[in-house]
Amino acid sequence: MRQSPKLFIYDLDGVITDTAEFHYLGWKKLADELGITIDRHFNEQLKGINRMDSLDRILEQSTSPTEFSEEEKIGLATRKNGYYLELIESIDPSHILPGIKDLLEANKQSGIKIALGSASKNASRILDKLELTGYFDYVVNAAEITNGKPDPETFTAAADALGIAHADCVGIEDAAAGVEAVNRAGMFSVGVGDEAHLAHADYLVENTQQLEFQQILQEFDKKQK
Ligand code: BG6
Ligand code: MG
Repeated sequence: MRQSPKLFIYDLDGVITDTAEFHYLGWKKLADELGITIDRHFNEQLKGINRMDSLDRILEQSTSPTEFSEEEKIGLATRKNGYYLELIESIDPSHILPGIKDLLEANKQSGIKIALGSASKNASRILDKLELTGYFDYVVNAAEITNGKPDPETFTAAADALGIAHADCVGIEDAAAGVEAVNRAGMFSVGVGDEAHLAHADYLVENTQQLEFQQILQEFDKKQK
């Protein structure tokens, strides 16, 4: 008999909407102000990483490292978040990435549960702006996660809250750290992006348009054998 998953856990930034770009622009502005050079290539390793860990990685890029106190670091991260909030101010449902609405619709119709597993403390606000909140049975609160991606906690927290075995879950991610987190959670990982970063995904598509619900179910089923 065909094996079906019981829960789909979606990443937000870079999967549901292209806020990954806004995170990059926010960090880039802060880094420029600190005299630190970052580029899009470096940014790949910030994807999926929580706010304070991202800041630490950026500060490590400095050619003249400065010791910041914890308070100063919180100030820097808050400054970046201010830039980010300005950028997401005008987000609306037209910013949902191609294919995602159909995927969520098919997921909902199937009766398979839906959760959001984002590292972002702004996740609920963005889901509301995109008018997608109604699709979700559970939204992980990033503020309650002790160990960020690539640790599996973000994904296991969603499954545990809904009482679903980890092996019965699918996690959809655009970040290398995110795919690693899904794999370490013992879940089926769907990567969205290029092979250079996401070769460790159980099933990989190039972009969100290629995310097709029935296809993901088939790939999940194949993996069980
Ligand atoms: C992740 C993004 O989803 O959330 C990261 O991929 C971001 O780039 C992280 O830094 C934390 O987001 P926020 O909104 O809490 O600063
Ligand atoms: Mg992401």
